[in-house]
Amino acid sequence: YHKLKPFPENFLWGASTSAYQVEGAYQEDGKGLSVQDMHEPPHGITDFKVASDHYHHMLEDVKLMAEMGLKAYRFSIAWSRILPDGDGEINQKGIDFYQDLINALIANHIEPIVTMYHFDLPYELHKQGGWCNRKTIDAFEKYARILFENYGDKVKYWLTINEQNVMINHPNAMNPGRIPSKKELYQQCHNMFVAAAKATVLCHELCPNGKIGPAPNITAIYPEKCNPADVIAADNWESIRCWLYLDMAVYGRYNTLVWSYLEEKGYTPIIEEGDMEIIQQGKPDFLGVNYYATATVCEAKNDGTDCQPRNGDQQVMIGEEGVYRAAVNHYLEETQFGWMIDSIGMRVTLRRIYDRYHLPLLITENGLGAKDEMSEDGKIHDAYRIDYLIRHFHQAQLAISDGVDLIGYCPWAFIDLVSTHQGYGKRYGFVYVDREEQDLKELKRMKKDSFYWYQQVIKQNGLD
Ligand code: BG6
Repeated sequence: YHKLKPFPENFLWGASTSAYQVEGAYQEDGKGLSVQDMHEPPHGITDFKVASDHYHHMLEDVKLMAEMGLKAYRFSIAWSRILPDGDGEINQKGIDFYQDLINALIANHIEPIVTMYHFDLPYELHKQGGWCNRKTIDAFEKYARILFENYGDKVKYWLTINEQNVMINHPNAMNPGRIPSKKELYQQCHNMFVAAAKATVLCHELCPNGKIGPAPNITAIYPEKCNPADVIAADNWESIRCWLYLDMAVYGRYNTLVWSYLEEKGYTPIIEEGDMEIIQQGKPDFLGVNYYATATVCEAKNDGTDCQPRNGDQQVMIGEEGVYRAAVNHYLEETQFGWMIDSIGMRVTLRRIYDRYHLPLLITENGLGAKDEMSEDGKIHDAYRIDYLIRHFHQAQLAISDGVDLIGYCPWAFIDLVSTHQGYGKRYGFVYVDREEQDLKELKRMKKDSFYWYQQVIKQNGLD
């Protein structure tokens, strides 16, 4: 209904990765183990030890970023590379690795966007209770201080915790061994809020030019029908899945609906004196948003079947008793892996977030996981990925035209990396890494068709 506005001039056209999914060198140069290094099958499908071996290909990879014309690169720092046991001695070689990466990015005019913690809690902290133990809050604050002191003069954009909401709602990928109970998970969640707030306060103290925010996975939840009971179910699930996390980050308070839910279920966390004050002080400067797909729900059946596993995955439930039940959205197509493709849903999501919080938004993840194959001509023709991104970029531009202050877009992923559940069987990168699940081959980097396409988009500052 109105004219399309252009992407802003200094739009951060970026791409994302995370440390444990891309680096490899899992025990090299003093790195300690993280929970990700301890996974057993079925979740430890891939050889995480090598991953895409970015640790040894760092300069080559940055050269490819520069060739693609990236304005920003979002990566995460492996906590256990900096502090091998999460809390004790500093590993200077770890500090140096990220110093070299940041320097290489800056030399190529690529803005570093640093995630402090992306699913890879140091295993030593995990053994001592992980996020259930308040010592982990102090350890995170110490780690944050080290990062700000070492990189704060060069890094402007910081992200505290990647997808805290996914860690709480799908805890299997972060917990080798026993999966914590819901009650424990909401205690972990509370402790993460305190930790993120402390890091935010510290960033503002130590990095005068630094901007910091969270990076949850946010998506609009649709009611299956206009049946008001479905609308309530969608509202409930949207609050539990999304608003809990952003209300806490921005307003420093528990979302009312979610608090009632926690009380009813007996999941309320212990809140210590001073927690809410620190959470209120730690205000973000912008919000990172990981967006992949919307979800559609209807009212829960409440007959004991709502909490059954979906698709055989013990951690992904059909729904939750008294809250919601997953429904099918017949208007949408699916990816090869059953994820809904909903580019308009991204516009809906961005509008909802901006309307609630009025802070600049940065898309920190969005992309298509596919079984990329090398063609006979030795190239990777990923037209389906280009198509997916065109649709999503267009909707991002529409959201900008709606008035959303969108400052950047970092598709997942810059380069092929270990997918959380499907290893190298599901690829997201603009750059192909020639390795198979069990065969490392030479880990050669190859530019996919989407690489050249994105290069053009960045050059033109948007779509044709
Ligand atoms: C996000 C995570 O949930 O989605 C990434 O932040 C992850 O770490 C990405 O890789 C895609 O999910 P998956 O399961 O396809 O790897």
